[in-house]
Amino acid sequence: MTTVDVETPRSPRRAERSGRGINLEKWGWIYMRASGVVLVVLIFGHLFVNLVAGEGVKAIDFAFVAGKWADPFWVVWDTLLLWLALIHGANGMRTIVNDYASNELLRRIFKGALVVSTVVLLILGTLVIYTFDPCPDVSADQLELLPSFCGVGA
Ligand code: HEM
Repeated sequence: MTTVDVETPRSPRRAERSGRGINLEKWGWIYMRASGVVLVVLIFGHLFVNLVAGEGVKAIDFAFVAGKWADPFWVVWDTLLLWLALIHGANGMRTIVNDYASNELLRRIFKGALVVSTVVLLILGTLVIYTFDPCPDVSADQLELLPSFCGVGA
């Protein structure tokens, strides 16, 4: 019988485990698959409703977004899309950094930058969704951009 020698991975630090405690690497692996399944629905639902249904892509403007976010269903949809995709993407990038950044300092810098950018984008994105004002004060020539339920727009 022939045997094959498999090279030791370049980042073996977490390979040895005591068997106690939470295995974060395992839960990260499960998260990528579970969020991937949900993201298929969220992403293709998002693309269909925004680009295909009704008038299609031509309908997208401020009033279109305001109209969607007037409905709690789309607020929850977009919040899930934001959080699941951003954490999925960041965790995927973490895997890539662990695989390819062999310099310990660089690896720490990349992963630090990933955490900071992910947290900042999650906070900013969530603030945008939940503090969005569909009927802001605008100049007279911009009134037509507002959704009809503001009572002044198109
Ligand atoms: C249709 C929705 C998606 C599905 C089904 C999906 C599925 C997956 C799965 C199963 C993995 C793990 C692959 C592995 O461990 O070998 C993965 C990795 C990854 N995903 Fe996604 N994903 C989706 C959307 C996204 C989005 C929107 C982003 C960006 C925000 C993203 C970024 C990544 C990255 C960076 C990796 C790591 C790739 C690697 O390890 O080589 N994915 N994805």
